[in-house]
Amino acid sequence: MAIVDELRGLREAGEAAIASAADVASLEAVRVSYLGKKGSLTSVLRGLGSLTPEERPAAGKVSNEVRDALEEAVASRRAALEAVALEARVDSEKADVTLPGRRRVPGRRHLISQIVEETVRIFIGLGYMVAEGPEAELDYYNFTALNTPPDHPARSLQDTFYLADLSGERADVAGESDVLLRTHTSPVQVRVMERTPPPIYVLAPGRVFRRDVADPSHLPQFTQIEGLVVDEGITFGDLKGTLEHFCREMFGEDRRVRLRPHFFPFTEPSAEVDVSCGLCAGAGCRFCKGSGWLEIMGCGMVDPNVLGLAGIDSERYTGFAFGMGAERIAALKYGVPDLRVLVESDMRFLRRF
Ligand code: DAH
Repeated sequence: MAIVDELRGLREAGEAAIASAADVASLEAVRVSYLGKKGSLTSVLRGLGSLTPEERPAAGKVSNEVRDALEEAVASRRAALEAVALEARVDSEKADVTLPGRRRVPGRRHLISQIVEETVRIFIGLGYMVAEGPEAELDYYNFTALNTPPDHPARSLQDTFYLADLSGERADVAGESDVLLRTHTSPVQVRVMERTPPPIYVLAPGRVFRRDVADPSHLPQFTQIEGLVVDEGITFGDLKGTLEHFCREMFGEDRRVRLRPHFFPFTEPSAEVDVSCGLCAGAGCRFCKGSGWLEIMGCGMVDPNVLGLAGIDSERYTGFAFGMGAERIAALKYGVPDLRVLVESDMRFLRRF
């Protein structure tokens, strides 16, 4: 019977097509092309009607077998393809929980910022306010108002970066201009005094600049912390007590402080402040060059001329001032032998603090 042969051929071809379907979508296409409404099996079945009544039962049986076989082949192939697809997905999405995690290195404050913050904290505890001034400063505030008029020999102690002045000339070629990078934070004293009636208790941290070549103990740009007190009845004893308190807070209870006479144009009398060496406790070692002491700042009683220039009655008020380098404080506190590491970005050093 021709139709039975046709059905058998269809089964063979269908099974082969099902077996070679590579994914669920092409399997579905194969299914539709054999078993769908317009599929080849369906159109063969339509031909059953033209058979004789004797032929029909046998042909109907074979056609049922073929349809069942194809449906089953599709179902099992689909299950196999779905299992493979799931496995591939699991494979591609799996996370290896044994891999080391990515380390996140948290940022932290630079050592110099830490020193400035610590100093501010200590003086805020004494009732001081924090003041700021411009880094590009007028000659008047940096020098003249601090008792250092033009041609004063003390100007050459601090080699100055001059900026083009307001007329636009390059003054560092022709001479000195009115605008410069401040060489110290002392001009903030004058700015504060000009606008604040006493009592004044201020701390002024900030960047300063000098024409120095960087070496172990010099940087062309560094950080100063200035202090200024103006009030009635302020004495040198107040200055000394304040600095002793600061040094003990910053360096430790066991540190001692001494003041050596010195000269600054803007204070009279003036002194340099030493703190006892933390490495040898004052006995003398290489760090303190055998002296047992480390110089940490300049200070003095504000010169009456400076008070007067800023509009403060020097008959009624007296004051003291001090200025220290934050880099130097850091170096002395932590035994840093070369200031340059403070401005280089060597993580091996920076991570220590
Ligand atoms: N301005 C000085 C300097 O840079 C430091 C200093 C000394 C500041 C004495 C002061 C002071 O306020 O009284 O070397």
